[in-house]
Amino acid sequence: ADRAFAGALAACGDLDALLRLKGAYVGREGSHAARLMELLKAAPKEQKRDLGAAINGLKQQWEEGLKARQGELETAKKHLNALASNWDSSLPPPVPAHGALHPLNRLVDRLVEVFRPLGFHVEEGPEVETEAHNFDGLNIPEDHPAKASSDTFYLAAHPELLLRTHTSPVQVRTLLRVAPSLEQHGGIRFLAPGRVYRKDEIDPTHSPMFHQVEGMLVGHDIGMQHLKGTLEYALRALFGPHTEIRLRPSYFPFVEPGCEVDVSCPLCDAKGCRVCKGSGWVEILGAGLLHPNVLRYAGIDPAEWSGWAFGMGVERMAMMLSQTPDLRLFFENDQRFLKAMGGLD
Ligand code: PHE
Repeated sequence: ADRAFAGALAACGDLDALLRLKGAYVGREGSHAARLMELLKAAPKEQKRDLGAAINGLKQQWEEGLKARQGELETAKKHLNALASNWDSSLPPPVPAHGALHPLNRLVDRLVEVFRPLGFHVEEGPEVETEAHNFDGLNIPEDHPAKASSDTFYLAAHPELLLRTHTSPVQVRTLLRVAPSLEQHGGIRFLAPGRVYRKDEIDPTHSPMFHQVEGMLVGHDIGMQHLKGTLEYALRALFGPHTEIRLRPSYFPFVEPGCEVDVSCPLCDAKGCRVCKGSGWVEILGAGLLHPNVLRYAGIDPAEWSGWAFGMGVERMAMMLSQTPDLRLFFENDQRFLKAMGGLD
């Protein structure tokens, strides 16, 4: 095994280098082969036969290696020449591949930017939650269907822990934390984006993991008008200045009164509209005035303080804005889909 030769051969990047290597190994004068032949001449008669055979074998190996590499380099040169003859130096250079934020994160970022000038900051909470934060602190009764293990992922080893089913436990955590300094700060307002989990079968509109953005405001004398005005502002910033909103009565244990909020269909081409199915309205979030029990749980006096909260589904909104028919596309990370979603911003 002639490792030095093999290494030198592989290192030959072009035909010129190969020619130089050829001269050094098998050239007529001063090459390795030539020097071996001189050794052979000087060798004792009885060794000449074996030594000669060995030298010939080695020389043959070198010549074969050189020939094979020459073939490779000639092919490579042909390819390069073909490329060069098609080269159009007036074309823009190839765009280097680079990473980008996921479309769902870009939408969440946009929401955060819409609310920031209104004084909202971002709060976060854990995805593994306690029953207390996910349910009890939100006035959700013991027998509520959402608490059933058929709807919620409980941790096998810690049955009091679960994967949060909504971002609303961040309301409870944040209120508990800021309650002592609420007066000093004149209240609180924040968004809480994040992942939530429910035991849903996967289909085009359901996934056991999806994203929500929670919004909450606590202050003095806060009413439905503040909620409606804020949502109108935010949803117009998101969907366009001509967007109308509509509040329909609904029920969530942690708000009273509670409502579902619709926006006028931002993509409506009337009758055949795939987004609103011709109704002109799309449901976009749940909201309401804070139930006094939510404030009480955090040690806040509902006679002095009031507020509102909303929760919206990020995938749902992204699907609407981009007319994406299948939610699973957001989780498969197919580069073609992600690139096509550039238009979401
Ligand atoms: N947490 C509710 C849900 O997941 C949404 C909601 C949040 C409703 C805040 C009212 C107020 O469906």
